[in-house]
Amino acid sequence: MDKIGTDITHAARILNQGGLVGIPTETVYGLAANAFSPEAVVKIFEAKKRPFFDPLIVHTHSLEAALGFVTAIPDRARKLFDAFAPGPITILLERNKEKIPDLVTSGLDTVAVRIPNHPLTLNLLQELDFPLAAPSANPFGYVSPTTAQHVQQHLGAEVDYILDGGASEVGLESTIVGFEDGKVIIYRLGGLSVEDIEGVVGKVELQVNSSSDPRAPGQLKSHYAPGKKLYLENTEPTEVDYSKAAYIGFDNLHKDIKPENQLLLSKTSNLNEAAQKLFAALRKTDALDVDIVIAAKFPESGLGMAINDRLKRAAG
Ligand code: TXA
Ligand code: MG
Repeated sequence: MDKIGTDITHAARILNQGGLVGIPTETVYGLAANAFSPEAVVKIFEAKKRPFFDPLIVHTHSLEAALGFVTAIPDRARKLFDAFAPGPITILLERNKEKIPDLVTSGLDTVAVRIPNHPLTLNLLQELDFPLAAPSANPFGYVSPTTAQHVQQHLGAEVDYILDGGASEVGLESTIVGFEDGKVIIYRLGGLSVEDIEGVVGKVELQVNSSSDPRAPGQLKSHYAPGKKLYLENTEPTEVDYSKAAYIGFDNLHKDIKPENQLLLSKTSNLNEAAQKLFAALRKTDALDVDIVIAAKFPESGLGMAINDRLKRAAG
């Protein structure tokens, strides 16, 4: 049987047996296992070479199903899910410790809950009696995958099956939201904009910068790194050889770099289109005959904030 396909029954069988399946979502592809089974979940960490202190997101198909593994869904969380789920938002809720093993949350009292917006994965979740723990399906420290082929490329030997749902439509990981002392906090910028979230729950606080915060260790600086050294535009060394540089731009070419080494993410200046293409572009620069990559600064609004965040981390 092929490793890549659209057979939900086959994917469900593997997951029921404690195996690993690559799953499509609207944000990025995930590496999924039964979230109720420590034996299955440990395989995710091994496959990705991910440190155990970095907790996983738990994917489910509905709020009703989520009630099976969290202690409660507070009002503001419900409002956010009602407004945006299924969609690119992850919400930290108090964990039911009898259901979700310590391994999934690195022992934290909260569990990250997400309802992904992809028909194949929603159908798969409906077939299962358990939710799916799934980090992005990339080796730890590398760019997240936005196609089944990306998953195959780096984790093909580790996964039992990859559900092919086409290219991810959003292209950036979900926005992670939690609640502290009555405040709404964003721990990771992502595929749902700050403006959209504030439209539902009012002013939020951003806590996206600390790399030592155990609540969001995925914020490690190198997390989105391609294989080549990346610089944000105008921070590259003065003696750089532009004939050996690639450019990731928004809507405008770089004047000193060869056109064939330039990847413009949206000729029509559309930040959603740019987000959708960002990770594939980072991967493409790995294959170019260049020494360094220079990335443009994107407008700090809408998904531009999350794009700049990922590029900053890739620049490390
Ligand atoms: O869009 C996404 O969120 C994708 C798709 C597959 O759903 N998943 C994803 O997972 O990006 P991952 O593991 O690459 O990133 C999950 C992030 C990590 O930074 C982790 O630290 C944080 O979620 N996280 C998970 N559980 C947490 C918790 N209880 N408290 C705080 N942060 C948590
Ligand atoms: Mg990740």
